[in-house]
Amino acid sequence: MRILITGASGLLGLNLALNARHTHDVIGVDRNTLASVPFEVIKADLLAPQAVQHILSQAKPEAVIHCAALANVDACESDPDLARRMNAELPYELADACLRRKIRLVHISTDAVFDGQLENGSYTESDKPNPLGVYSQTKYEGEQAVLKVNPLAIVARVNFYGWSLSGKRSLAEFFINNLGNGKNVNGFTDVIFCPLLVDHLGEILLAMLERGLRGLYHVVGPQAMSKYQFGVEIARKFGLRESLISPQSVDKSSLTAKRSHNLWLSTHKLSTDLGRELPAFSTGLEQFYTQYQQGYPQKIRSYQQI
Ligand SMILES: NC(=O)c1ccc[n+]([C@@H]2O[C@H](COP(=O)([O-])OP(=O)(O)OC[C@H]3O[C@@H](n4cnc5c(N)ncnc54)[C@H](OP(=O)(O)O)[C@@H]3O)[C@@H](O)[C@H]2O)c1
Repeated sequence: MRILITGASGLLGLNLALNARHTHDVIGVDRNTLASVPFEVIKADLLAPQAVQHILSQAKPEAVIHCAALANVDACESDPDLARRMNAELPYELADACLRRKIRLVHISTDAVFDGQLENGSYTESDKPNPLGVYSQTKYEGEQAVLKVNPLAIVARVNFYGWSLSGKRSLAEFFINNLGNGKNVNGFTDVIFCPLLVDHLGEILLAMLERGLRGLYHVVGPQAMSKYQFGVEIARKFGLRESLISPQSVDKSSLTAKRSHNLWLSTHKLSTDLGRELPAFSTGLEQFYTQYQQGYPQKIRSYQQI
């Protein structure tokens, strides 16, 4: 399949492109961040006039996986207009263009569309979102626009970790970098999420496309845990000092944007429709550590333009 990946310098887009190129014809969209990557790249700002139409005409993809976003929660709070253009209006335009051109679309949304007030259990795709901040609100508007305009699209609500171009994009890297330098960090005990290794996420998104799925899916890890527990798991696997992680409530943190407490998302619909279980957290963590041992973090950082 010829697949166009937007946000090809991002945590998801870059890992996805690097993996998918072994089995697919990959074209990444990059503003000006990447250098010497082993896949085809179209240089473009997705918000430039006519950019979507130009890119689709040039790349002629059979499918688009739209990973580009304004994904920094605090940046969204400080520039709500940009957040809306990037996270809501652009997905709408892309979904409409893909439908007209008979191109399959996978749009990436977030677990953070929920307010996290659910006391017990997990959110399903039929639960009603209630976004708390600008990032969540604009991402919610984006996913709803995509579902409305393009009934063939897949909308995937995700949460993932992995090695990034900057070396500091993911929560896992935050723990490794700080603990590795002997620094104390806080770990939130009251933020529950379902982390999935980015490589597993990419592989599942491709499987969803190949299986012809459409509509809304929760594409997260099958195991829920607190951010504190995640830090401890990382510390243990990497032989770092878990005592440097202080258990803390997110409500006592200095973070600008409000964070949801319970982002345990059910993956029942996904595993049923894919006909298989999702990879266990321990499997992902093992692979993440193997990548570290094999020098993958340095490799991925070498694709950054200097
Ligand atoms: N990370 C997570 O755990 C997480 C959790 C839930 C949902 N998500 C969602 O997953 C998706 C991918 O997230 P991520 O963590 O991979 O994001 P990321 O690392 O912040 O990457 C964002 C990407 O979007 C690109 N981009 C931003 N504005 C652009 C523009 N105007 N034109 C072209 N490209 C532009 C960036 O390019 P530049 O390099 O040029 O800035 C970058 O490649 C997003 O939809 C996000 O909302 C992420």
